[in-house]
Amino acid sequence: MKRYPFRKPLLSVALVAGLATSTFGIPSSSFAASQVETSALTKEDQKIVQSVNVNNIYSHISRLSSQPRVAGTPAEYNAVQYIQQKFSSYGYNVQIQPFTFEAYVPPTTLSLDVKDDNTEYTPQYLTYTGNGQAAGELQYVGLGTEDDVKDLDLTGKIALIERGNISFAEKVLNAAKKGAEAVIIYNNEDGELNGTLGGANDAYVPALSLPKDVGEKLAKKLQDGETVNAEVTVEGSKLETRTSHNVIATKKASNQKKDTGEIVVVGAHHDSVEGAPGANDDASGVAVTLELARVMAKAKTDTELRFVTFGAEENGLIGSTKYVDSLGQNDIFRTRAMFQLDMVGSKDAGDLVMNTVSGQPNTVTDVAGDASERLNGEQTPYGQGDRSDHVPFAEVGIPSALFIHEPTEPWYHTPDDTIDKISKEKLQDVAEIVGAGVYDIAKIDRLTQNVKKPKPMKNVSKEVQDVK
Ligand code: BES
Ligand code: ZN
Repeated sequence: MKRYPFRKPLLSVALVAGLATSTFGIPSSSFAASQVETSALTKEDQKIVQSVNVNNIYSHISRLSSQPRVAGTPAEYNAVQYIQQKFSSYGYNVQIQPFTFEAYVPPTTLSLDVKDDNTEYTPQYLTYTGNGQAAGELQYVGLGTEDDVKDLDLTGKIALIERGNISFAEKVLNAAKKGAEAVIIYNNEDGELNGTLGGANDAYVPALSLPKDVGEKLAKKLQDGETVNAEVTVEGSKLETRTSHNVIATKKASNQKKDTGEIVVVGAHHDSVEGAPGANDDASGVAVTLELARVMAKAKTDTELRFVTFGAEENGLIGSTKYVDSLGQNDIFRTRAMFQLDMVGSKDAGDLVMNTVSGQPNTVTDVAGDASERLNGEQTPYGQGDRSDHVPFAEVGIPSALFIHEPTEPWYHTPDDTIDKISKEKLQDVAEIVGAGVYDIAKIDRLTQNVKKPKPMKNVSKEVQDVK
């Protein structure tokens, strides 16, 4: 864990500013006079540290995490309105960017009945399963690879397949190609199997999953030569067109003469998964974004700042992809850096890292790493990671990074992702590092102090295109 009590600069700024107390308690015994190094902080860092109020961040999280915010639902729109209203109240020009997407709707009916068997089966669906009713003999198909099915005729049968080696989608397609009416995949480890076929496909037959012990019992019967007849029903699995929204708050460069023409984006996603209040994922990122917008509202910059919250991240980075798609070539070229804040406040997660899609450092990790060094006396490490809204930016060559604590907390995507698991210290730390990093790029005349001109747009690399 980070040694927060040794956050020298916070103390030093508090001293410089003559503040009696900092936002949250720091044991005074942790500080020797020799540790106080005001010189490490730029005046812009000091402004950030003095202005960030972690209680504002906490209160945004509290408000946003009062309910799950599934993309395309009224609850997500309610969050959008809250965010818009906050940005507007700080004096930003706010744009709401609507977009449609195909949301997956789970089956309304899902059942497995096995003849002459009084076990009550409670299968799970594989996301994007086909619909239908299938009655037939169960056939054990091993791992369901092409090789496993090559000599089989599964016409009229229900394939029983073990998890492992190849994707669920490949298993289902291999069995369906051989005529299977339905597919049951059972787990190869303890616990429920909540899998996805990755996307809709008309070739999918009804596909459901069972826990390891339940699946193994059925497999054993078949391997012992027993005939097992079963019936599978899946109804209501479908895609539905829904509307989600991005919220975009813009502040132009303060001084037209010095305007570099560059843009810096700070982003987070406001949607959550079904059933999860998403206090950390990602009300935390939205709340820090809002607070940085408030803190930077009157800052003198030679760079345009955009604070953006994205919708439908959990459905496949859809809002951020729409945002990037809506940028002209010129705006893509002008966007100098993108800071993505996702899961930045959990007490139960590890330390802060900055993940880039390539795993290589870039402008974002450089400036935030240096900010962290000035603020905390150590560089925030960077690593490789996609899985969030920085990806579409990286794909068009915009230097971007995901700020996240790793390893992630056990409450990720569960109903327990609630405000009581949020650490104010972590929020404050991330807000300071990102705020100071952003300000370092955006402050007036930064280009003449440290010449790092934007690079021409790179071609999307193969590696990036393959990110799912
Ligand atoms: N906040 C997570 C991303 C995340 C979680 C990154 C854990 C690293 C560790 C994000 O909201 C999420 O769940 N993303 C999806 C991917 C997306 C393309 C649907 C994921 O990781 O499953
Ligand atoms: Zn997230």
